[in-house]
Formats: sequence, structure tokens, C-alpha cells
Amino acid sequence: MVGDVTQFYPLVTLSLNGEHATRALGAALAKVVSAGDRIGLCGPLGVGKTALVRGLAEGLGIGADKVRSPTFTLVNEYQGGRLPLYHIDFYRLDATELDLLALREVLYGDGVAAVEWWDRVRGESCNVRVDLHFATGTRRTVTVTAFDSRYRHWIDSLEEQAPAWL
Ligand SMILES: Nc1ncnc2c1ncn2[C@@H]1O[C@H](COP(=O)(O)OP(=O)(O)OP(=O)(O)O)[C@@H](O)[C@H]1O
Ligand SMILES: [Mg+2]
Repeated sequence: MVGDVTQFYPLVTLSLNGEHATRALGAALAKVVSAGDRIGLCGPLGVGKTALVRGLAEGLGIGADKVRSPTFTLVNEYQGGRLPLYHIDFYRLDATELDLLALREVLYGDGVAAVEWWDRVRGESCNVRVDLHFATGTRRTVTVTAFDSRYRHWIDSLEEQAPAWL
């Protein structure tokens, strides 16, 4: 049924202490991503969205040090890994400025799109969303929600994997 408000999506909440733990979550995500997937990243300034993309790049076999926030360009493209990685940051972008057709090519293309400030994107869906929140010190409370059945089993295994990262 269209717009069924009773539908729910499986999610898991993790407590990740330190940047390396958030990067490990990104690297674990790299094992399950497929071409055309959209990863939505949400959370306040400085919470660790780019850190997660660094881990994702690492897991895809792209050097994590290549990853920079796409401040002056709409999309940073990283090649050379298992799949192309498209890194998009909506912080400074006004959706009306965007060439949505061009953006859709990236979002539904031959690679994985990791989108910071996904909550500012209207009218598109993501396969998996990661919501990051500040906790105390270097701890972050991170909720991963699967909008696609391929990610459901993966998030079920996350609680078991996470202690190894801490
Ligand atoms: N548990 C953690 N996870 C991720 N980053 C952490 C963690 N603890 C500390 N940090 C630090 O927080 C900062 C996160 O910066 P990052 O650029 O990834 O944030 P961001 O969410 O992308 O910010 P912006 O909204 O400005 O793009 C880094 O300096 C990182 O070292
Ligand atoms: Mg960032």
C-alpha cells in the first residue's frame, strides 16, 4: 500500500568510541554495498559522517586519505576500488541549485553514493541510513536503518561485530 504508515524498518543502535570505531563501521558497510546503492548519512557538524566515508573508502580498497569533504564541488568521485565511490555533501547545497538529473545519474549509477546531510535531500530514497549523535567525549551513538532487504541481515550482525571495533 502506498504511504503505509504502519511499515517499519529494521534498525540497530551502536555506541562507537573513537574515530577508528566509526571507520570500522564504514569498512564493514563496504562489504555489503552494491552498484547503485545510496547511503544516507545524517547528524550534526563534526559528528563523524566523513569519518564513516573514510572507512567505507578503505573497505572498498580506495585510500582513506583520498577522502575529503566535497566543499567546492557537488560530488567527489573516488575510483580504484571494488566499486566507484561518489561522496556528496548537501551542507552548503540548496536543492534548487542542483541539476537533479545529473545528480540522479550519480545516485543510481555504477557506484556507491555516500551522501552527507541526507536529511536535506527531498524526493529520493536511500538503501541504508546512518544517523550519528554526539554522546560523551569521543563516543557517538549511531543508528543504522535498513530500507532495503539486502541490508537487513547485515544490520542483524552488527551488534556482534561492533565490540571488536572498540
Ligand atoms: N567516535 C567517533 N566517530 C567519528 N569521529 C570522531 C569520533 N570521535 C571523535 N571523532 C572526531 O570527530 C571529527 C569528525 O569529523 P567529520 O569530518 O567526520 O564530521 P562530519 O560529520 O563529516 O562533519 P561535517 O558536518 O562538518 O561534514 C573528527 O575530528 C574525528 O576525529
Ligand atoms: Mg563531513
